Amino acid sequence: MPTKSVPAPTLVFEKSRPGRIGANLPECDTPEVDLGAVLGRTRSTLDLPEISELDALRHFTNLSHVNYGIETGFYPLGSCTMKYNPKINEKTAGLPGFAATHPMQPWQSVPGNMEILHRVQEILKEITGFRAITLQPVAGAHGEMTCLMIVKAYHESRGEGEQRSIVLVPDSAHGTNPASAARCGYTVRSISTDAYGNTDLAVLAKTLLEVGNQVAALMLTNPSTLGLFEPNIQAICRMVHEVGGQVFCDGANMNAMVGTTRPGDHGFDCMHLNLHKTFSTPHGGGGPGCGAIGLQAHLEPFMPGPVVRKDEAGTIVLDEDRPQSIGRVSSYLGQFLMEVRAYTYLMAYGREKMADISKYSVLNANYVRARLKDVLPPAHDRPCMHECILTAEKYKRENGIRALDISKRLIDYGFHPPTNYFPLIVPECLMIEPTETEAKETLDAFCDALIAICGEAATNPDILHEAPHTQIVGRLDETKAVKDLDVRWRKPAAV
Ligand SMILES: Cc1ncc(COP(=O)(O)O)c(C=O)c1O
Repeated sequence: MPTKSVPAPTLVFEKSRPGRIGANLPECDTPEVDLGAVLGRTRSTLDLPEISELDALRHFTNLSHVNYGIETGFYPLGSCTMKYNPKINEKTAGLPGFAATHPMQPWQSVPGNMEILHRVQEILKEITGFRAITLQPVAGAHGEMTCLMIVKAYHESRGEGEQRSIVLVPDSAHGTNPASAARCGYTVRSISTDAYGNTDLAVLAKTLLEVGNQVAALMLTNPSTLGLFEPNIQAICRMVHEVGGQVFCDGANMNAMVGTTRPGDHGFDCMHLNLHKTFSTPHGGGGPGCGAIGLQAHLEPFMPGPVVRKDEAGTIVLDEDRPQSIGRVSSYLGQFLMEVRAYTYLMAYGREKMADISKYSVLNANYVRARLKDVLPPAHDRPCMHECILTAEKYKRENGIRALDISKRLIDYGFHPPTNYFPLIVPECLMIEPTETEAKETLDAFCDALIAICGEAATNPDILHEAPHTQIVGRLDETKAVKDLDVRWRKPAAV
C-alpha cells in the first residue's frame, strides 16, 4: 500500500538571493542602455530569480527527476500517441545533411531529402493500399481536415458541392473528427454504436435513406476508438458509396493493422495516418507531427501541391502543375525531420517484420484485457485490437469510486494513468494501450497494480479518493485548474 509522500521541491524563486548571478560577463564596453525605457520593464520589476549557475543546474536537474516519462516508466495512455520514440530516430534526424537544410533551399539542391520524402510516400502507399500519399499535413486533425477539403473539391468538381453538406460521424469518434468536419463547413450528423461496439448499420441505413443525397462523407475510425475492428467495413463503404458519399478512414489507430491488413483494400476513399502515433515520431500536441494522408485514384488530382513524385525518366521532381489541387496545406513540404524519423523506424523493421508491430500491439492489449477482465470488465466482450477499453462502473455503483480515482491511485504504484473517460460512450472508461514495445513483466506489474487497487476500492475507498499520496502534488482540483488557470508566480507580500 504505497503512501510515502515526497517533499515538494522549493521554487527557483525561493532559492533566489539578491545579487547572486549565474553568468560571468565581461565589463560592458558599449554605452549602457536603459532597458526599462526600451522594453517598459526592468529586471527588478520582473522579479527574476538571482541564483548561481550550479544551483540553477541542480534545481532543474532535480526537477527533471520528479518528471515521469517513457524513459522512466510504462505509459498506458490509449489513443492519440505512440509512446516509443527510438533514439536512433533522433540520431538520423540530427544528421547535419538533414537538420541543416534551409526550408527555402531549392529542392533541386537537396536530392537526398527529396529521396527520403519519396521513399516514405512509397512505403506508406504499400502499407495502406492507397494510390497516393502526401506528407504535408502536420497533425492527425490536420490530415482529417485535408481529406475533407479534398472530398469537398471532389464533390464540387461533380457539381454536387452545395448539395452535399452533411458529414456522418460515429458517436465513438475522436473529437477531432466532428471538429474537422465543422471546420470545413459541414453539418455533422452522429451515427450511434450498436451493442457489440460496431457502427449501427440500421441507424446508418435509416440516415442514408433520409439524407443520403446530402452526405458528403462518413468518417470512420478503424479500429475504432473502442479498440475494436469494424467487421462491417466493406458493407458500410458500399452503403455510403451507393448514395454518392465518400468514406474517410481515421487511421490514427493504424498500429493495429500495419503489415497485416490495408484500409485502401477495405473500400475507403481516403485516410489519415498519424506518423507520430504509428511510426514512432514524437507527438507535437496538434503539430509539428505528420498526419500523412492516403487517397484513391479519383481523389488524387485534388491532393495538396506541390507533389513529390518521379517523372517518366525516374527522377524525383516537385510537381507544381496540379490544376485541381486544393493547394498547400502546410509551409514547404510538411515537417521534414518527422519523415526522416519515420523512415528510420520503417527501415528498422523492414517489410518482413512490419507485421510484428500490429501483432504485438494487439497481443499486448488482449493480454492486459484478459488479465484484468475480472476486476475491470471490457466495455465489449470480444477480442480487442491495439487498445482495450475497460469500465470501472461497478466501483462507482458499489463503492463511490470513479475511473479517475483508480487512475490517480496508479500513480502511487509507480505507473502513469491510462486515458480516462474516452470514448465518451463508455461509462467510467479506462482506455489502455500498451503498444508493441512493452515486455510481459511490465504488463504484469501494471495489471498487478490495477488488481490491487480494485481490491482497495472495496476495503479502503478513501485511499483512492485522496490519491496520489506519493507525489509532490496531491489530488488537484481539475475543474479549477481548467477554469481558473494561473501559472504566474508572484512575490509573496512582505510580512
Ligand atoms: C482516433 C484519433 N483520431 C484523430 C486523432 C488526432 O490526431 P492529432 O492529435 O495528431 O491531431 C487522434 C489523436 O489525437 C486519435 O486518437
